[in-house]
Amino acid sequence: MRIYWSSFLARRLLALSVGYCFLLSSVSWGWWETGHQVVARIAAAHLNLAARARVARILEVPDTAEAVSDALARAATWADEIKNDNNTGSWHYIDLTIQDHKWDIPERCKDDNCAPARIRLFAKQLASRHGGSGPTDGDALRYVVHFVADVHQPLHAISDADLGGNCERLAPPLGKAKNLHALWDGEIIDEMASSDRELATMLETDIDGLGRRAREIAQGNVNDWVWESHEIAINDIYRPLRIPLEPVEFPASCKDAPLGIAELRVHIQPWYVEEMKPVVRSQLVKAGLRLARLLNETL
Ligand code: ADE
Ligand code: ZN
Ligand code: ZN
Repeated sequence: MRIYWSSFLARRLLALSVGYCFLLSSVSWGWWETGHQVVARIAAAHLNLAARARVARILEVPDTAEAVSDALARAATWADEIKNDNNTGSWHYIDLTIQDHKWDIPERCKDDNCAPARIRLFAKQLASRHGGSGPTDGDALRYVVHFVADVHQPLHAISDADLGGNCERLAPPLGKAKNLHALWDGEIIDEMASSDRELATMLETDIDGLGRRAREIAQGNVNDWVWESHEIAINDIYRPLRIPLEPVEFPASCKDAPLGIAELRVHIQPWYVEEMKPVVRSQLVKAGLRLARLLNETL
């Protein structure tokens, strides 16, 4: 009997912990690896010589275009790898509700625990060049590179009581994406190219086509970029997919999301993915050019 119960308990515990891990891992947090690496490679290609030299020094690689591009691409995914260990998940997004206005951005960012505030803080640290306590310049750079990309994922700048689309299930799932957030974090990108190098090369052609507009795109401050992402989320995600408008609330997990969200099953049609590819391309281009400008002005 004792043996029966302990193995029963062990199996229950195992099932519970597997279920818990599954729940945790089904909430996703930023562009998947390719998106972050692409933004970093675009930025690297648009650094001035002084900024490139400082990036090379911080990341301890030779100061060549190729080495800096590879190093910045490697650096770009670190913030996702460590966020569960140091509890910095909230630094990757900002939950602005559909009811909010642009001037509500500070209100939605308590204690600087949101992406735009962290971009400003880590950029300031890189600009000040003092040593001392706090994160190293390497960590500050890795955070800035990562978060500038994250704020260009439209679902990282919105909340409809749904954790930025993490709570809306896709039925059927699309590739690796089981929810709306994952579709935007990576599935659309995965359907555009098979490697970050390939996609970065494709996007450099887009940038060549922009001509003098590339400079204008790089303008603005972090809140401008966040608000632009927020509006894209409303116009290209929530409206066309007919996601219901929910009251202003911030569930801690999808278990606590309103039924209008939790019971929704979103069917993604092929036309939707095709229509969104240019939007994703343009967000990655903007992120890369803006990150380059930020680093050129700070380093
Ligand atoms: N968790 C809560 N809100 C989120 C968002 N907008 N993006 C990613 N993860 C989140
Ligand atoms: Zn995400
Ligand atoms: Zn992230």
